[in-house]
Amino acid sequence: MSDNNKFYLKDSNKYIGKEVTVKGWVFNIRSSGSIVFLHLRDGSGFIQATVIKGELTVKDFTEVQKITLETAVEVKGLLREEKRAPGGYEITVKKVQIISLAQEEYPIGKKEHGPDFLLTHRHLWLRSRRQWAILQIRNEVIKSINEFLLKDNFIRIDSPMITPSACEGTTTLFEIDYFGEKAFLSQSGQLYLEAAIYSVGRCYDFNPVLRAEKSKTRRHLIEFWMMDAEAAFVDFGEILEIQEELILYILNHVINNCRNKLKLLERNSEILTMIKSPFPRITYKEAIKQLQKLGSDIKYGTDLGNDDETCLMNHYKQPIFVTHFPAEIKAFYCKKDEVDNSLALSADLLAPEGYGEITGGGQREEDYQLLLKNIKKHKYDIADYEWYLDLRKYGSVPHSGFGLGLERLVAWICKLDHVRETIPFPRMLERFRP
Ligand code: 4AD
Ligand code: MG
Repeated sequence: MSDNNKFYLKDSNKYIGKEVTVKGWVFNIRSSGSIVFLHLRDGSGFIQATVIKGELTVKDFTEVQKITLETAVEVKGLLREEKRAPGGYEITVKKVQIISLAQEEYPIGKKEHGPDFLLTHRHLWLRSRRQWAILQIRNEVIKSINEFLLKDNFIRIDSPMITPSACEGTTTLFEIDYFGEKAFLSQSGQLYLEAAIYSVGRCYDFNPVLRAEKSKTRRHLIEFWMMDAEAAFVDFGEILEIQEELILYILNHVINNCRNKLKLLERNSEILTMIKSPFPRITYKEAIKQLQKLGSDIKYGTDLGNDDETCLMNHYKQPIFVTHFPAEIKAFYCKKDEVDNSLALSADLLAPEGYGEITGGGQREEDYQLLLKNIKKHKYDIADYEWYLDLRKYGSVPHSGFGLGLERLVAWICKLDHVRETIPFPRMLERFRP
């Protein structure tokens, strides 16, 4: 059954002066005896419903007085503009029906709760206004990624979750027993997308990926959502441009479609509005020099850690690409720079405001012999990569791609302290419940 004719709170501005019915939950109650203010949410928005004693039958008003936090209700009444009400609208209630009375005192009260308590109650915490806003923004980001890529001739193909071949090194692999054989949970669908470009040209996936990361930081999850994109006949420079356009497209969409949600999160969206392309590009070597100047003792040849990324980004208001990492510290599939063979044609996109790497990608090695040499150098079992090597035997072409970490991007857009708030049910080093 289509839902199009139902009233949702997000459309309140179109129903001023009309009688409406809202089905939802009571998240706040204020009472002055003869007037009760029920703050309602219906999933799409929030409103204040004002119940005046004389306007209801005695029986109905007695029912209203029973309502506790998180009780589910159906409310009928007149929708009015009311400047003093939070949100600017109000329902003058004619009838309230209790659908389900909350049985016990709701554990998440008005007082401040610590992160541990909130994470244990994540299933309830999701109902809070802030978490609602984050879920809505996450959805808008996902929607705009899909939209942008489809418009840019990428098609979505989905990569498997179970794989015999490591994509991003062996240290963060989750091993599983696949009916007596060793298998891994996917760290990234990239290698499979590289196979699919020979069928469809440009493609992407959007899956949860898993990494047994021992790092307990504000930016790391064990399970997170990654969008991998891959394109045939696209070189290093072009894949950076695609990423720039994608990021601007997403920001633009969120700024335009999620104003009230960004406001609710107290996110200054002006900062996001100022993001423009092209994003500055610096080489890894330049990044190391800048960091050393800033007092870091980082040495050429080590990967940029969280603190290095933050320190570097304190000096940029735009996202920046760090390019040309030493091939040694990048994955086996990276193509080498033609001029300096010790460098990989890879790039990390770092977000400003301390959010670190939001995408990683580059051009892939398309030569069979060079790729084979790299696989051997990494001491991977050739048998597990034979299928991947096949791609370089039959019509191999220059190609590039990147992976975008959804939670990192959402954390930056919402300016959150920790990525754990950007995913409905975070999986972290010390937590996989609820
Ligand atoms: O840089 P990564 O490891 O790149 C890849 O996996 C490539 N195979 C992607 C590709 O080229 N198709 O991961 C991509 C992005 C990072 O830039 C980061 O934003 C995010 O995934 N990411 C994480 N997000 C949350 N928690 C973690 N533990 C993450 N590890 C990476
Ligand atoms: Mg990376």
